[in-house]
Amino acid sequence: MEQKSKIKRVAVLTSGGDSPGMNAAIRAVVRTAIYNNVEAVGVVRGYDGLIKRQFMGMQSHSVSKIISLGGTMLKSSRCPEFKEKSVRELAVSNMREAGIDGLVVIGGDGSFRGADLLCKEFDFPVVGVPGTIDNDIYGTDYTIGFDTAINTAVSAIDKIRDTADSHNLVFFIEVMGRHSGFIGLYTAIGTGAEATLIPEYDTDITHLCSYLDRERRKNKTSGIIIVAEGEKNGTAEEVAKKVKEILPDYDTRVTTLGHIQRGGSPTCRDRVLASVLGNRAVEALIKGMSGVMVGMVNNEIAYTPFEEACSKHNEISDLWFEISRILSL
Ligand code: ADP
Ligand code: F6P
Repeated sequence: MEQKSKIKRVAVLTSGGDSPGMNAAIRAVVRTAIYNNVEAVGVVRGYDGLIKRQFMGMQSHSVSKIISLGGTMLKSSRCPEFKEKSVRELAVSNMREAGIDGLVVIGGDGSFRGADLLCKEFDFPVVGVPGTIDNDIYGTDYTIGFDTAINTAVSAIDKIRDTADSHNLVFFIEVMGRHSGFIGLYTAIGTGAEATLIPEYDTDITHLCSYLDRERRKNKTSGIIIVAEGEKNGTAEEVAKKVKEILPDYDTRVTTLGHIQRGGSPTCRDRVLASVLGNRAVEALIKGMSGVMVGMVNNEIAYTPFEEACSKHNEISDLWFEISRILSL
């Protein structure tokens, strides 16, 4: 984990799915490097840019006014070739040739798997910053982009609720999250949804239907059912179809929120988290740390080895799931 050489030129890249707040993290990395008399280099399109030597010098003004912007000014990519050792070797030799002696990777657990290999195979110093809307990374209470994503989803679902109420409809709304139900659970609690289906808990469709019917008899005329991507009964469309087979007189609609959850101006919470973690990542590299992700646990900075951050998962709290059910009665 310890490196002895003093970092002189640090590179930063964004990898995997973009998330709101990545720009704020890039800004923090660049400005912290400059503050420490370390040169900053931006890598365009994540690992793909390392392979293709897409490096750009970054000055303080290069990151002016990006704190409020969604997406990532460095662009991102999925780069399957990076799973090959020879490709990673090329990436490291490109960085060394360009005088880069430290790397900050802003991304999700897939990106950290690649980063871990750069450290272990080639002894290249890398520190990670968790940037994904999914909130599924072990070693941080929240990932950069999650807060913005849930606020975007909540504001969209509030609007859908108006139509559901006006027309006595039951809406099945699909939210993102890959294999993790954080976006589903938080948006369900935040919108007062009637039911939540997330990958971490099995939902029996017959039980869901009896519950919906019971609610209807209590004079609930409309409903919002949140279906998280990765939920075991299938997509929101498939869940709606299964419900309709049991309750044919229900007037149902399906909305998939999709990529609107990944875009937009980051919330203040995401900007602050990204700024703090980006700053600490560069300071960690300068202190000689490597092979770790910097996160925030109980409001304290926490460093977690990449291997642990990738192999473990943030757990959904049983209590929070129970609360979402109790409050929807
Ligand atoms: P995220 O970082 O958001 O989880 P991905 O899972 O798509 O997104 O991973 C981003 C990139 O990280 C991949 O496109 C690939 O370049 C790299 N990566 C993912 N898994 C590995 C792995 N096992 N070995 C090396 N590189 C990997
Ligand atoms: O990891 C972020 C995420 O938006 C997931 O929630 C979702 O499963 C996935 O990326 C979608 O990826 P793509 O944009 O490549 O379809």
